[in-house]
Amino acid sequence: MCGIIGYIGSKEAVPILLDGLKKLEYRGYDSAGIAVLKDNKIKIVKCKGKVAKLENLLEKDAPKGNIGLGHTRWATHGKPNDINAHPHNGCNSEIVVVHNGIIENYMSLRERLILEGHNFISETDTEVLPHLIESNYHNDFTLAVKESLKEIEGSYAIGVISTRDPGKIVASRCGSPLIIGIGEGEMFLASDIPALLIYTNRVIFLEEREIATITKDGVEIINSKGKILHKKVINIDWGEEMIEKSGYKHFMLKEIFQETMVIRNNLEGRINLSTKTLQPENLPLPLDRIKEIERISILACGSSYYTALAGKYIFEELTGIPVEVDYSSEFRYRKILLGKKDLAILISQSGETADTLAALRACRKAGSYILALTNVRGSAISREADSVMYIKAGPEIGVATTKAFVSQLMCLYILSLYFAQVRKTLDLSEINKIISELIKIPQMVEIILLKEPEIIKLSEEFHKYHNFLYLGRGINYPIALEGALKLKEISYIHAEGYAAGEMKHGPIALLDKTFPVVVIVPQDKVYTKVINNIKEVKARDTLVLAIATEGDKEIINIADKVIYIPKTLDILYPILSVIPLQLFAYHIADRLGCDVDKPRNLAKSVTVE
Ligand code: AGP
Repeated sequence: MCGIIGYIGSKEAVPILLDGLKKLEYRGYDSAGIAVLKDNKIKIVKCKGKVAKLENLLEKDAPKGNIGLGHTRWATHGKPNDINAHPHNGCNSEIVVVHNGIIENYMSLRERLILEGHNFISETDTEVLPHLIESNYHNDFTLAVKESLKEIEGSYAIGVISTRDPGKIVASRCGSPLIIGIGEGEMFLASDIPALLIYTNRVIFLEEREIATITKDGVEIINSKGKILHKKVINIDWGEEMIEKSGYKHFMLKEIFQETMVIRNNLEGRINLSTKTLQPENLPLPLDRIKEIERISILACGSSYYTALAGKYIFEELTGIPVEVDYSSEFRYRKILLGKKDLAILISQSGETADTLAALRACRKAGSYILALTNVRGSAISREADSVMYIKAGPEIGVATTKAFVSQLMCLYILSLYFAQVRKTLDLSEINKIISELIKIPQMVEIILLKEPEIIKLSEEFHKYHNFLYLGRGINYPIALEGALKLKEISYIHAEGYAAGEMKHGPIALLDKTFPVVVIVPQDKVYTKVINNIKEVKARDTLVLAIATEGDKEIINIADKVIYIPKTLDILYPILSVIPLQLFAYHIADRLGCDVDKPRNLAKSVTVE
């Protein structure tokens, strides 16, 4: 997954391209480059390494020009090096391309183009694009791109410039996001909103296989058949300050401390805080659809999959509807048994995860009703779903998700309460009781965040270990999985989440004093079972950190260290227990000097298979 930025206007392109690449670096950062067109020449500067290294190169000798493209890469084909970095040009530097995605038939195209006399210098799939466009270029730049893309199998978001038509950028997408920013006498192209927000909040989201011809005065968009489209301009209401770090060391830490706010955002308009009742008028799905649902399938990847797992416990507990949960990447290749009475819920913060988009399309073919839970308006998943519930987390820049995770959980709680009310599986007093607790969650989160100093101290004690086991039971089992993922993805320490009851079926063989265990053990209906698990772990001399309920007097005599969270209803503990685990992972990774916002090998949104 990579980041693309483009500019055409009257300003110098390089500063704008660099600024955009810095904001897109979370999408991929193993190499970066820019291309600038001036006086019928295109100059390319690119290198292995992060955008900062490219910036140093440009300090000495930045090419002048008012039209350019930039790219920050997450390598798929061809290792990270100067030659494989984007942009890529064709045989005679007349056509230059940046690309995000995977061209699955690039080898056959490359072989054919070599036979036609084209010379390749990189190992990338992308390099076939400029050569293909050259071979299709007669006298119409847009047509050359359009004809070339017809031969591409796979996913792409591309920006193309050409010395043969120097006043234009041609762009297109299929499976990877691409946004056009509309300025005054200048236009922008980007993979994601943060890269262009300081210049304009007026954007057009390109849709599948649409082709944009961008000049400094505007854009013409056609579909794959060449028909001119009149696209809606969307005004993005994200403030610029939401993009910056606001004084935090990392975006991830800022986003953890935004969790109180985003939980409140998700309550607003959906729950009347004074009457403690739902506001159905702002909730997705028509009533008749909710009444006829016989089964729910929730599909997602990574942390979103863990919220889906928690969603199973929540929906089944409150609505009695059977719920199946699956990794999108597994679901999409299995025999799809869904039908018209099934509700498919696709959860994706970015709304662009390739496997989840493919799972959505499989559900579409099966005829299920599709509800998306996503954070990004105009994202592919939001556009292809029948209904969308926005998780209202604001831009999440840190690669490791935090505030979006709790926002997704909030949406699942509110949805389940709504379904329970419509299907009368809970009476109004029961719904009111849960809502009364749910609206206290923001201040409970505040209480937990105040414990950061004690978590920093714990990170000092725990950061030297190389293996962790995270345990949870029932609705807290998915939180054990998420806690382990948070630690491993930003600190590179091996951590495994497990159902506490399963520990005796294998993992306990791993335990000794070098292998700490983190246990989520609130005073819920399985408390004594988990206490027994902790005692079995302690019998192996293992260090135990417990996430426990405020007021629990027993736990401190059993676990070595305890982080207390406020008491609440059993079903609501996940949204509280995950927060100390996020802070714990963050401070261990920070203490180890890891690049917390941009962990190695990861990307914020995996738009390739
Ligand atoms: C979470 O910290 C990871 N960055 C990753 O597992 C992520 O949750 C996954 O890639 C799904 O992303 P999505 O929610 O945008 O679909």
